[in-house]
Amino acid sequence: MNFVLKGNLCFCENPQRMTTLPNGYLVSRDGVCEGAFARLPDKFSGLPLVDVGDHLVLPGMNDLHVHAPQFAYRGLGMDLELIEWLTTRAFPEESKYRELDYAARAYDLFVDAMKKSATTRLGCFATLHVPATLMLMEKLEAAGLHGYVGKVSMDRNSPDILCETDAAQAARDAESWLVESRKRFSNIKPILTPRFIPSCTDALMGSLATLMRRYDVPLHSHLSENRAEIRWVEQLCPNADGYADAYDRHGMLTPRTIMAHVVYPEPDEIDLLRERGVMVAHCPASNMNIRSGIAPVRKLMKAGVKVGLGTDVAGGQTIDMFRAVTDAVQVSKLYWRLIDQKQAALTLAEGLYLATKGGGAFFGKVGSFERGYAMDAIVLDDSSLPHPQPLTVAERVERALYLSGECKVVGKYVAGRQIV
Ligand code: GUN
Ligand code: FE
Repeated sequence: MNFVLKGNLCFCENPQRMTTLPNGYLVSRDGVCEGAFARLPDKFSGLPLVDVGDHLVLPGMNDLHVHAPQFAYRGLGMDLELIEWLTTRAFPEESKYRELDYAARAYDLFVDAMKKSATTRLGCFATLHVPATLMLMEKLEAAGLHGYVGKVSMDRNSPDILCETDAAQAARDAESWLVESRKRFSNIKPILTPRFIPSCTDALMGSLATLMRRYDVPLHSHLSENRAEIRWVEQLCPNADGYADAYDRHGMLTPRTIMAHVVYPEPDEIDLLRERGVMVAHCPASNMNIRSGIAPVRKLMKAGVKVGLGTDVAGGQTIDMFRAVTDAVQVSKLYWRLIDQKQAALTLAEGLYLATKGGGAFFGKVGSFERGYAMDAIVLDDSSLPHPQPLTVAERVERALYLSGECKVVGKYVAGRQIV
């Protein structure tokens, strides 16, 4: 488990810049980084050396928001907006996970792709079905990935075939799944997952909030993604002071909460997210595909809200987190150009920071090569991008991020364990 990885290292200690160490040394001890060095300190010289030659070595990506059961239809049905897309695409597909045979085939595809991807840790929605969700967790754990998986809770405004019978039953299912999965898995952990306000009665939300406290578990949901959805929440929760408050009044906004999207936050909601320490999962590809809009990420970052990135497959078409990085940068340029010139576009370093150390904070000390951070690393072969001119490591990383489809992840370590 203890070793030194030698290669062209690149990571972000802060959003301002990338740190690069050409032919640098990354020391891993007991699954944790001892640091990244230009020259190997003598005290580590006895450790086995893994030399990856001219390859690039980056921290693993943290995909904070991805729907495993939607992977099988990614890239389809993108001409719709959220509510119609959910009813005609997502719900019919998710209802199939009642059948364990179907779930096994589909989840094998998802886990295999995830394993080969740049992602090391994920925040993942499953479906409302307990057996299929446990199966997904088992497969992710066996693949060596780390993160959180949620059995989805939904007891209203859903088709009969994908709707829990009542709040009490839904809460009992969530609790038994929670207890079982906490016993069975060590690296893939349960996260309570009320789908979003329109899918969950107050009674169910109350019970989930109780479970959250009783078992000290995190929570994952959607917030302010689409204008029609926001109007719907206003109608469903006339007493709430906005969408964020509809969660907050149940005590669901905490430092262990991921909220996906946050495309249309009111100023007081931004303050609330910061005060509560909520992690926002920015999902730019999904926001483009189903025409939700552009999340004001610069505004959130300036306000001190924690932000990471998600692919939101299958609202997003790909689990490629490098694409999420460059999409985040690109949509921020459109936001600056078309919506608000006071919100500067993200730099590439900021995008990479969000995908690594930014979102990584949800999992602990994750997402950097600094001392004390989990040894999550990917080894990237960019030799398919030849260049006649000399390029720095930072320039090679920039190209690899923009041209990710042309590069290959040839090695991957999660908490020091090699899984690819
Ligand atoms: N809101 C509620 N459910 C979903 C979902 O499956 N995908 C997205 N993008 N938004 C949602
Ligand atoms: Fe989503």
